Amino acid sequence: MTDMSAIAAELRRLLPHAHAPYSGVQVAAAVEGADGRLHYGVNVENAAYPQGLCAEASAISAAVTQGTTELRRVYVASSLPGLVWPCGGCRQKIFEFASEGCEVVTVSPQGDTGRQTIEQLLPLGFRLEPGEGRRV
Ligand code: THU
Repeated sequence: MTDMSAIAAELRRLLPHAHAPYSGVQVAAAVEGADGRLHYGVNVENAAYPQGLCAEASAISAAVTQGTTELRRVYVASSLPGLVWPCGGCRQKIFEFASEGCEVVTVSPQGDTGRQTIEQLLPLGFRLEPGEGRRV
């Protein structure tokens, strides 16, 4: 059973670790693998703006590094008021590793929660079978 309030508290604790001197927007994310383990990440901006990394991408990178490639849930929190949903690029990154019914759960600083499946956030997402691109 996932302890939502403990995860939200950990995301809030990590927000100040975000490297966000340019936008000032701190984001923290966690991804939960099929084995229930959680992997965390924060956004890491760069003076060369396009080189910046979203929190979701950081968390996915941490998960894959630990051998986790099937995600059942993604959690997002930010310093902005209200709910923040993953950007388009991160929806595609989540889609790559999402297991059936994978959910994105977003929490606001006020404690509100939003919940959508990745299929709802990215209908008809792009997918390739391994090696498929080389066969066409
Ligand atoms: N950002 C994330 O880390 N995740 C999101 O889902 C949306 C945006 C970051 C990117 C950038 O560092 C800052 O928030 C402002 O766009």
